[in-house]
This record gives sequence, structure tokens and C-alpha cells, in this order.
Amino acid sequence: MVRQAHHKKVILAYSGGLDTSVAIKWLRDRGYEVVAYMADVGQEKTPTAAIHRAKVAGASKVVVKDLKKKFVTDYIWPALKAGAVYEGRYTLATALSRPLIAAEQVAVAHAERATAIAHGCTGKGNDQVRFEVTAQALDSSLEILAPVREWEFRSRDEEIDYAHKHGIPIDSTKKSSYSIDKNIWGVSVESGVLENPNTEPPLDSFQWTRGAEKRNLKERVVEIGFEKGVPVSLDGRKMDGLALIEKLNALAAPYGIGRMDMIENRLVGIKSRETYEAPAATVLLTAHRDLESLVLDRELSHHKEGVAQKYAELVYYGLWFTPLRAALDAFVNETQKKVTGAVRVKLRKYSCHVVGRKSPHSLYRESLATYTAKDTFDPKLAKGFIDLWALPYKK
Ligand code: ARG
Repeated sequence: MVRQAHHKKVILAYSGGLDTSVAIKWLRDRGYEVVAYMADVGQEKTPTAAIHRAKVAGASKVVVKDLKKKFVTDYIWPALKAGAVYEGRYTLATALSRPLIAAEQVAVAHAERATAIAHGCTGKGNDQVRFEVTAQALDSSLEILAPVREWEFRSRDEEIDYAHKHGIPIDSTKKSSYSIDKNIWGVSVESGVLENPNTEPPLDSFQWTRGAEKRNLKERVVEIGFEKGVPVSLDGRKMDGLALIEKLNALAAPYGIGRMDMIENRLVGIKSRETYEAPAATVLLTAHRDLESLVLDRELSHHKEGVAQKYAELVYYGLWFTPLRAALDAFVNETQKKVTGAVRVKLRKYSCHVVGRKSPHSLYRESLATYTAKDTFDPKLAKGFIDLWALPYKK
């Protein structure tokens, strides 16, 4: 692609926090015109103050994109259908959002005729990988800048001094004791006292489920309706995906459902301790998996478990825009043709579990499973089956 650029123009993935605010000034000092790009994936921040801050820091323009619906349909639902959970627990909220944010960033770069993109990720996390692999997979002609990985500040205080010196307002970027990343699929919390893996997460580290330990809510059952693996209704009411996730988060979070405290293997080789809160994701993954157990045959179901793990790795490793993901999606979508039905999930303190499921495609046959007189299973067939099954091992 030929670009007629008179100056260097960069699209910065801008969160409104200290790092990316300082990055605007830092990039300007290196001769770039900076467009601050804000992606709304449901992080519950009003961007007004952030937009002002970006302008003061020297952004020539602020572009805000509401990506919530796209996040649900193009990223969350495919991951849910795949059953993607990293290392058995992380439901991938942060990891899933990165390819989307980066892909839209590339689109903004094209629309703005920019020659570069920049992100505010550090040099030891997974997110830098996800941003940069996505950008390279979509347009490798774009220059990639990672100010936070390169700049000279050795501490947050140095950064704050720099901001003060250059008149960048940081009063409303008050640092919590944790590093928090939030979107509609969940919250990720790390740093601060959580860096000691043996320290119990303080009650104030929880974002959505805070206070659950004090609450004694009545148990309640929610019914999730699925069509071809996608949640379409809540308690019998048809609902748009985004609304459904938001509603389910609101219902399940007060119980403390979806809290996770884990040591995970990062792509860059280190282990890190992170806590997660993913109420809706936990309920939906639980319900979806259960419905699959009703409608998928044994071999398909077992094979799909391996695919789920592979899919989670791929998301975690930043390999969303790859042929492997397209191929796995094709497999997963094939498996979802019969994943239609409804699952009742009981919500209780800290956990949820399925109490009933139904589907027009159910493979469960009461007449075969029953131990009553209604039984139609022919036990005489079992004898020959077992003899042949045992044949290779016969002594
Ligand atoms: N460890 C998670 C991942 O790599 C979340 C990263 C961001 N976490 C945070 N607290 N800022 O996907």
C-alpha cells in the first residue's frame, strides 16, 4: 500500500491512564502526529476526562469506537462455542479483547492514513504479543511502536514527574494498588500484594464481586437458552447477546461467582499470579458445556475437549488472525449445529451448577438408561461386545 505521508502519523491505542497519556507526549517528541484511539469493550469508564487528557497531552485527534457488540458476536461467542478456557480456569477476557482492539486500530490507521500504530503494553506481558501479531497479520507495512517498552522511566513516580512537567493532567488517573483490565467478559487483576502468590487476595482487590463474602443471597435458578451454541435467551426472554451478558454479570457477580485465583504460564516464559472475575462467562461456559454433554456423541465430545484447549492456547498466544483459528472455528461451528436447547443453572455463593437441561436434539434416551421395567437396552449384547473389546489383552 502506498502512503503519501508528509509526516509520521501514529494511531495510539489509548486507555486514558497514565502510561498512554504520557505516551502521547513521548511520541510527539519523537516527531509523530498522534491520534488517540479508544476502544470501548465495556470497561465501564466514561471517556470524557480521558479525551480531554489526550488533547492536553498533544493528540491531534481522539477516535472512540464502541466495539462491544462486535466483541460479543465475533470474539466471545466463538470462544464460548469452542469452550476456550486457558489452563483450566482463565476465561480469557483480556486475551480475547486484544485482537479486536488491534484489528480496529489497523482500520483506524488506514482511515487516517497513518504509517504507524502504538500500544501501551509493557515488555513482559502477553498483550504486547497480541497487539503486534494482530497488526502484522493484518498489515505488516505499519510501523509498530511500544513506548512503555522503550522509554527511560524506571518508576511510576518518574512518569508522574514527566506528566507534571509537561502539564498532562493525571489527577483522575489515580493509581489503584492493582493493575486492572476490564471488559464485559471479565476483569483481570494483578500486581500489588498479589505478586506474592501465597498472599490471599485482599477483599478490595475484587472489582465486580466485592462484598460477596458478606452477602447471603438466596439461591436462584437462571435458564439460559441456546441456539447452535449461542446464548439467545435468559429465563425464557429472548435477548441480544450483549444485554444477556450484562444482565448475567449483574445477577451472578453479587454471589461472587466466577472468581479465580491462579498462577498462569505466560507466553513470554514467566509465571504470573492473576485473579479474575468472570461471572457471566462462568455461568455461560458451565451451561454451554452441559448442553453439549446432552447432544454431542461421546467421540465428538471427547475430541472437542482437545480442541477447546488448543483454542484457548491460540487465543492466549495472540494467534487469533491465523489459519489455525479459521480451521478450528469451522470444526467448532460444525459441532454446534445441534447445540440448541435450554439449561437451568443454580446460582449460589461463589459457585453455580447445572440443575437441568433439555434439547430437541437430546441423545439421552430414558428407555436405554433406565433401571426400571421400561428398559429397552438389551444386556445380552453386552457379553459379545466385552469379549471383543478385551480380545487384544486376553492372557
Ligand atoms: N494475564 C492475563 C492475560 O495475559 C491478563 C493480562 C492483563 N491483566 C491486567 N491485570 N492488566 O490475558
